[in-house]
Amino acid sequence: MNAIYERTSVRQYAPEKVSDQEIEKILKAGFCAPSAVNKQPWQLIVVKEKDNLEQLSHCSPYALPLKEAAFAIVVMADTSHHLADGYDIQDLAALTENMLIEAEDLGIGSVWLGIYPEKERIEWLKKHFELPDHIVPYWVVSFGYPLHEQKPKDKWDPAKIHYETYGEKAI
Ligand SMILES: Cc1cc2nc3c(=O)[nH]c(=O)nc-3n(C[C@H](O)[C@H](O)[C@H](O)COP(=O)(O)O)c2cc1C
Repeated sequence: MNAIYERTSVRQYAPEKVSDQEIEKILKAGFCAPSAVNKQPWQLIVVKEKDNLEQLSHCSPYALPLKEAAFAIVVMADTSHHLADGYDIQDLAALTENMLIEAEDLGIGSVWLGIYPEKERIEWLKKHFELPDHIVPYWVVSFGYPLHEQKPKDKWDPAKIHYETYGEKAI
């Protein structure tokens, strides 16, 4: 699947809007993700308004791409589904990667903007969106058509792969 190999973080966007149909395709791809015991603990906020994106860019010192983004998705866990510590984050990561890949397939750039486990950033989002206690924000994803073409980084490293036991390198 080329989109997996072509995806790279995109932080600068062209001014074009992304249609609601394309946004829905990205959301639907997210919902195809696996989750522990099929709990699907995700809750998402889609932010499209320019002023709201500008405000959201203050959620973290590293969230400036939101200022130029076409839209953003705040990825949150509904902890009332809670299974055990550590499952929510895995489920949300699976959902998020699906959305990044679908966006790439549609020619839309994206970047994952970290919030969790930074307490200040979590609290900022909880306050900003007046989230109830059982809803925990984990990160924000910024989307938009890329301002310029970008090549993905080559991260393939066979030295990190072990066969049958740790330390065995050769096939
Ligand atoms: C959990 C997580 C948090 C991240 N936080 C940020 C962030 O706050 N700001 C940002 O610009 N990029 C952020 N990134 C994007 C990474 O910097 C990027 O994925 C990494 O440099 C690899 O580059 P690539 O996505 O182009 O392959 C984050 C990625 C992950 C998975």
